[in-house]
Amino acid sequence: MHAKVVVVGSLNMDLVARTQRLPRAGETLAGDSFFTVPGGKGANQAVAAARLGASVAMVGNVGDDAYGQQLRQALEREGIDCQAVGVCAGVSSGVALIMVDAASQNSIVIIPGGNGLLTPATVQRFDRLLQQAEVIICQLEVPAATVAWTLARGRELGKTVILNPAPASGPLPADWFAHIDYLTPNESEAEALAGVPATDIDSARRAGERLLQLGARKVIVTLGPLGAMFVDGAGSRHYPATVVKALDTTAAGDTFIGGFAAGLVRGMEEGEAIAFGQRAAALSVTRAGAQPSIPYLAEVAPCGRQ
Ligand code: RIB
Repeated sequence: MHAKVVVVGSLNMDLVARTQRLPRAGETLAGDSFFTVPGGKGANQAVAAARLGASVAMVGNVGDDAYGQQLRQALEREGIDCQAVGVCAGVSSGVALIMVDAASQNSIVIIPGGNGLLTPATVQRFDRLLQQAEVIICQLEVPAATVAWTLARGRELGKTVILNPAPASGPLPADWFAHIDYLTPNESEAEALAGVPATDIDSARRAGERLLQLGARKVIVTLGPLGAMFVDGAGSRHYPATVVKALDTTAAGDTFIGGFAAGLVRGMEEGEAIAFGQRAAALSVTRAGAQPSIPYLAEVAPCGRQ
């Protein structure tokens, strides 16, 4: 079966420490627990789409180390096509150092490793996957030139192109917008991209409108417990979140995006796919870790039910 969702992006091994609070600069803190789980925004989004009912292929790189083998196996276990997951000799796999506090907030440092060596030429070698896809998803944990190439190719092929602009430290190159169907920042990313605050429902709408002025077509600003704000040329719509007790928000955004993409390729209309992604993300924050927290299709209630 051809993969309907193709994710071009990162694979990281997440090294997670839970602490009561995040340390200040120069401070040493005793933490509560430590675990190692597969993550990376690209791989998380691929896993979410696969668990939520889509056929998925991953394009990315790992290093030639034990983490690389584990990261690839984690995707294969979900039935994800890994023919385009390369192994970079003499390089470590991507790693994310994650601290999660008692209020379930996290802070993350990523070391790109093999992710940093994903070139446009590598993606081009697997152009057939892009040709066969319906939805192509990118994030910003691989080189910008590779993201730019993939977005442009996705547009050229007439695919639905999603950019999750994460992590974001500033505006996107202006010529990217024309290639993107859905831009999906969280609050801080929306602020970095739009240059205006996005801290609540109204300011997220304004940030979305600013991104439209910059050239975006459709923007979905994810707002955690405040839901999601959809903005396009026809107006805006707020999607409230399911209320849950959050344990760990790592990969909640990734679960939303994978779920949204899976919803689209499974024939849901746009709003239904957003709500579907939100329900999946709500479940993910009740569980620890990145990929282990992502729910399966059977766990996500159909529309209109909690
Ligand atoms: O979005 C969560 C992910 O960000 C983690 O899994 C970590 O690997 C970082 O890439």
